[in-house]
Amino acid sequence: MFQLFSNRVRRPISLVGIAFVFSTLALYIIAPYTVQQQTSEILKQPWTTSRIYKPPNNQTTTISPAADKKLHILLPATRSNINFCKTLLTMILLGYPNPTIIAWADQDRASGLLGGGSHFAKITRTLDYINDPKRRSQPGFDEELVMMLDAYDIWFQLPVDVLLSRYHAILEEENARVAHRMGRAFTQEGINSRVVFGAGKRCAPNILTSVACYPVPESPLPNDIYGGNTDTFVGTNQWSSYRTRYLNSGYIIGPVGEVRRVLERALEKLEECQNRKGASFDDGTGASDACYRGSDQSIFVEMFGEQEYYREVMRRHHRTRVDDMLDKVIPGRAGSKPPPTDIQQVPVLDRLEPAFTHQQYNKTHLPGKPYEFGIALDYWSLLGHQTSNAVTDARYIRHGLPVKQQLGKVGKFDCVPKTDMLSLPNDLPGGQPLPWMRGSVPDMWDTMPLYTEICINTVPVMIHHNSVEKYQRERQWSQTWWYRRAKPLFEERRKEGIPQLAEGIPTDRGTMEQWERICPKFLEKELFRNEKGN
Ligand SMILES: *[C@@H]1O[C@H](CO)[C@@H](O)[C@H](O)[C@H]1NC(C)=O
Ligand SMILES: *[C@@H]1O[C@H](CO)[C@@H](O)[C@H](O)[C@H]1NC(C)=O
Repeated sequence: MFQLFSNRVRRPISLVGIAFVFSTLALYIIAPYTVQQQTSEILKQPWTTSRIYKPPNNQTTTISPAADKKLHILLPATRSNINFCKTLLTMILLGYPNPTIIAWADQDRASGLLGGGSHFAKITRTLDYINDPKRRSQPGFDEELVMMLDAYDIWFQLPVDVLLSRYHAILEEENARVAHRMGRAFTQEGINSRVVFGAGKRCAPNILTSVACYPVPESPLPNDIYGGNTDTFVGTNQWSSYRTRYLNSGYIIGPVGEVRRVLERALEKLEECQNRKGASFDDGTGASDACYRGSDQSIFVEMFGEQEYYREVMRRHHRTRVDDMLDKVIPGRAGSKPPPTDIQQVPVLDRLEPAFTHQQYNKTHLPGKPYEFGIALDYWSLLGHQTSNAVTDARYIRHGLPVKQQLGKVGKFDCVPKTDMLSLPNDLPGGQPLPWMRGSVPDMWDTMPLYTEICINTVPVMIHHNSVEKYQRERQWSQTWWYRRAKPLFEERRKEGIPQLAEGIPTDRGTMEQWERICPKFLEKELFRNEKGN
């Protein structure tokens, strides 16, 4: 506050102006609804994204894993294949807790829906797991963390402690940002985001003029990562130059109780939309029929859009005339009018009423915030990077070696990687990367090739191969740090008697599936490609 003030008096303004600022400032300070002031530098100009922000992991958020709550990992998979085994293997190598396979051996019934309706199983089966009466009766269960993720296209490359500390760092940053955006509505409405979803470049599959898309806030990423092409269709394809801004449901992580609220609402919406045809907001193509042909993603994207729509309703509701006056003299105040955004270059001046033909929504403020689900996005790809429209945004990099030579071909539309900025994240455990990693020349994090988002300098915990280039799952396997190291590590883990290998992997059918059954010997040729004795 004081800094803002002193910035102002440096300018030649009249005494009357100063007096006005003083009195309104005093009024503001003594007002009972004073919003907690954010000191963090990034929040002073929340709408300016032209600077390179420090990603939220550049702080020493140390969460001791023992002190952290239990983590339940749920993998929706009706059957096994090589890609499922790759996901499982990376979790074993890195020391993740034993996951539970959900929707295991389910029959695909609903024809005409994506994956035979299996996308919906992500919602229903996860709910079954967290609503299980026996689990629910355990004290503290609702505060334990649950993570649900795509089982066929995600690889882990960093340990679980990093995942947990980043989950907390993302929320800390997001809540500070939303507090600034919403002003006093944030505290008065008790907003607190606790469920993190992935982020992607497209509002998809939803219709852009629907509430799922138009109210979504600006991306907090620097707005020059693709130079003048940023957020335009100029790129390797129509979407490659956009910043991550929209929800992607490849992974969800949050406290059980909060994730339950999200999924129960998703289930209601699923019931509403699964027989829907010709929705009022449809563009006439029938694109939105049957929840966009059975897309669970479409439901979460819509929930996020509604949440953001009503956050803007709340922001307006809690403002007073004094705020309007103050905003004129103090720029960038918490809760001030958000600047225009756009949806694929079409301007959105008013997030509740964009000028283009759009799905109408009710702007009435509702007590009890029924559309608020505490959903936050992993904009910086700290947990996971979505490869969709972003394959050229990443490289496997040994951070201890000069980076420039490792970049290879940089296309004319690619981001210009700030090579001097690329560095190993400071939240990786020091010393030996993994306790079970032994060898004559021990590997260090900076000598191992790590999948790195080179436009914003992040080393994600997970690589989410959701790009249409599905062959990347074979191609990139040999670029990972575990390539030609996996077999001995895997055997170390077996010797340690980790539950995945000693007891098996539990399923929601109550069975235990043995590793050898899920990932039979013949798959080892690919899993342990080019390794000794394979
Ligand atoms: C992280 O923060 C430290 C000190 O705050 C700074 O010196 C360093 O350059 C930052 N690193 C990155 C990658 O921003
Ligand atoms: C909007 O919602 C409020 C509260 O539920 C209701 O009273 C009002 O009639 C609605 N307005 C419209 C235009 O539907």
